[in-house]
Amino acid sequence: MSSKRNGDTSDPLATRSDGSFPAVRMRRNRQAQWTRRLVAENRLATDDLIWPLFVIEGENKRDAVPSMPGVDRLSIDLAVAAAHEAADLGIPAIALFPNTEASLRRADAAEAFNPDNLVCRATRAVREAGLDIGIILDVALDPYTSHGHDGLLIGDRIDNDATLEALVRQSLVQVEAGASVLAPSDMMDGRIGEIRRALEVAGYKDTLLMSYAAKYASAFYGPFRDAVGSSSNLKGDKRTYQMDPANTDEAIREVTLDIAEGADMVMVKPGLPYLDIVQRVSHELRVPTFAYQVSGEYAMLMASAERGWLDKNRTMLESLIAFKRAGAAGVLSYFAPEAAKLLRAEA
Ligand code: PBG
Repeated sequence: MSSKRNGDTSDPLATRSDGSFPAVRMRRNRQAQWTRRLVAENRLATDDLIWPLFVIEGENKRDAVPSMPGVDRLSIDLAVAAAHEAADLGIPAIALFPNTEASLRRADAAEAFNPDNLVCRATRAVREAGLDIGIILDVALDPYTSHGHDGLLIGDRIDNDATLEALVRQSLVQVEAGASVLAPSDMMDGRIGEIRRALEVAGYKDTLLMSYAAKYASAFYGPFRDAVGSSSNLKGDKRTYQMDPANTDEAIREVTLDIAEGADMVMVKPGLPYLDIVQRVSHELRVPTFAYQVSGEYAMLMASAERGWLDKNRTMLESLIAFKRAGAAGVLSYFAPEAAKLLRAEA
């Protein structure tokens, strides 16, 4: 910069007050930890985290998910222990996902309405532990269908309205088991309204609905489908019900509808690749907006960390604060317990 443009260089304080250097030095606020802490615009807290857990049959059994290093499928007793860990760490809620035995997966998804199915038994067991923790259960048929779809297949099409009836039945057995939050992840039209109505009629007025409102047909769900055992079954793809990754305005319409139908909270999924959607939904619609940092996002980071290509803890926390910056109220993340431990160590 020429001395002419800077004015009188003999007096460094005689700077122009038009926001230019050196009156303005952005680095002043960044010079030390204490000042960075003061000016931080967003903060990640354990209060923002939801921990998804995979449940299997058996006792004292843990079964690694190869495509998700560090994540194990847990028998119910160990899932209860994990719920205790979550509560001890201050994580407000867990989300339970069953890996249903292959013999119970049928075209009509009947196991979804069995009040003693795996996820209902797991929910009751966690409830009986008396923890002050939210239990979130997916509403979708994919853990129970022989074809791996979230809805019922009639011919070669997923039938929306037949699926709604099944989702309502699934919802009722899940709240009866003790779910605090139902999270419809199936992307059928009208399901939030139907489930909300059925809950009111059955007297479950306080059950929360966290709608997977803007859920995209994403390849980032691959490791999750391994974990719940639906990937080898899945015929075709989910593009007739999950959203096209090319679309944004459609997400706003989806969320608007779900709120009108009675959703208390909404979710955008996947997470980081869809941060623009998280930001638009939270800023334009001003509703509690959650992001799901999905299995494939977890796998990418863990694979790089295992190779020593990325620093696991730092990339984990950086990815989580990104959701807060975009306006998310909270994040479903397989990193939840590790992140909570890091946050506790920092405090
Ligand atoms: C089931 C469901 C899926 C996920 C959450 N609920 C998979 C899918 O829709 O195929 C994905 C979660 C993840 O990838 O971590 N409807």
